Amino acid sequence: MGCQMNESDSDNLTQHLINSGFSQADDHENADLIIINTCSVREKAEQKAFSLLGRMIALKKRRPEIILGIMGCIAQQEGAGLLKRHPELDLVLGTREVGHIAGIINRIEQNGERVVATDLSANSSNTPVINEGYFRGRLKGFISITEGCNNFCSYCIVPYVRGREKSRPVEYIIRQAENLISQGIREITLLGQNVNSYFSFESGDVNFPELLSRLSNIKGLLRIRFTTSHPKDLSDDLVRCFIRLPNLCPHIHLPFQSGSNRILKMMNRVYSREDYINLVNKLRETRPDIAITSDVIVGFPGEDEDDFNLTLDLVEKIEFDNLFSFIYSDRKGTIAQKMDKKISEDIKLSRLRILQDKQKGITLKKNKMLEGKEQEILVEGQSKKGDQFTGRTLSNKVVNFNSNTNMTGQLAKVVIKKSFINSLQGVLQSN
Ligand code: SAH
Ligand code: SF4
Ligand code: F3S
Repeated sequence: MGCQMNESDSDNLTQHLINSGFSQADDHENADLIIINTCSVREKAEQKAFSLLGRMIALKKRRPEIILGIMGCIAQQEGAGLLKRHPELDLVLGTREVGHIAGIINRIEQNGERVVATDLSANSSNTPVINEGYFRGRLKGFISITEGCNNFCSYCIVPYVRGREKSRPVEYIIRQAENLISQGIREITLLGQNVNSYFSFESGDVNFPELLSRLSNIKGLLRIRFTTSHPKDLSDDLVRCFIRLPNLCPHIHLPFQSGSNRILKMMNRVYSREDYINLVNKLRETRPDIAITSDVIVGFPGEDEDDFNLTLDLVEKIEFDNLFSFIYSDRKGTIAQKMDKKISEDIKLSRLRILQDKQKGITLKKNKMLEGKEQEILVEGQSKKGDQFTGRTLSNKVVNFNSNTNMTGQLAKVVIKKSFINSLQGVLQSN
């Protein structure tokens, strides 16, 4: 569950387990070991995790020999309390303990221990876990380049459950990239809560644009993406990367969170709506075809109609390619949780709907602008319905198209014939 960081952690954990002799079960019903990777960013995510935990506990009651664990952000936050509340749980694994899984499982199997491993000050290993073959058959991979977050946006739980920001050494990232490519990966997304603040002292003062430059030279890497960027750390150097580096995709996910300076201040986002607009202008002047996507929160404590209208206005002005909008959710221990003037669920929901309707029209308009245009796509395989092939544009939009040959893993040119909100219909161009 949760973000791409969790997905990447799950892959790392699985590789550690395979390297120590485990193999993947085809279904949780047949598994001897089940670990739920959880997210606590909003209340809904938490509820989803606990409902899955409930189902796995029921399974364990039927098959008591199962080892049952919980990992990820809820595990980090709740720690030992989870073992107390759920006698069926054998393991609570924090966000920086993934690399220790093999030894921990050993303790559980050999000594019947129930383990809580949630040391946040632990530095994850400087050498990537490598399992030759694990990524075969996949085209897209993730590499976490930073862990943690130091920004403490007032609403956000992440700094508490992922710890202080730490950049992984360049050598680690290059090695992992080369390994992924040797297994057939063609597109790599660099992950971090705030990738543009990447800085490795250990590797000789390498910043994010420099890291991108080095990765961009790796043979066989067709596409590089990164997420997420914080507006406060978006340097001119980084903006120039979008024209300098041929395999860096012209797409940036740049959360703005609110269009009201008053709310931005309370959120501790340390930029203004004017700063944000300037950044977008700079990006578009440098690279006119860049796709910009964003996150926004509605119903932050104290958000009034004027604040909300400023958010709507920003969305109209900027015209994002896509927007992920969330209802503010109180998170235990954050500054925003202690703020007064909480907004009612009704108002939050109605604001969310207005914003989402507005964005739907913009997304469609943006997609329609691609009609008649040629786009380069990385072919990913069969489409969802199975009757066509599918791939993504440089701007990360889904294109379905007919083809007599299977071009999975290759770059192809298509002309967009018809655009919808969630996908585009293309026609393959012969080379
Ligand atoms: N590090 C990333 C965001 C990680 S969380 C960044 O700063 O961009 C992903 C998104 O969840 C955030 O951008 C924010 O829009 C949303 N979010 C985080 N905490 C939230 C909360 N308490 N309530 C509602 N949405 C939240
Ligand atoms: Fe949360 Fe802000 Fe850090 Fe993003 S930058 S993870 S929103 S504290
Ligand atoms: Fe969720 Fe943790 Fe990611 S809270 S969004 S899984 S960093």
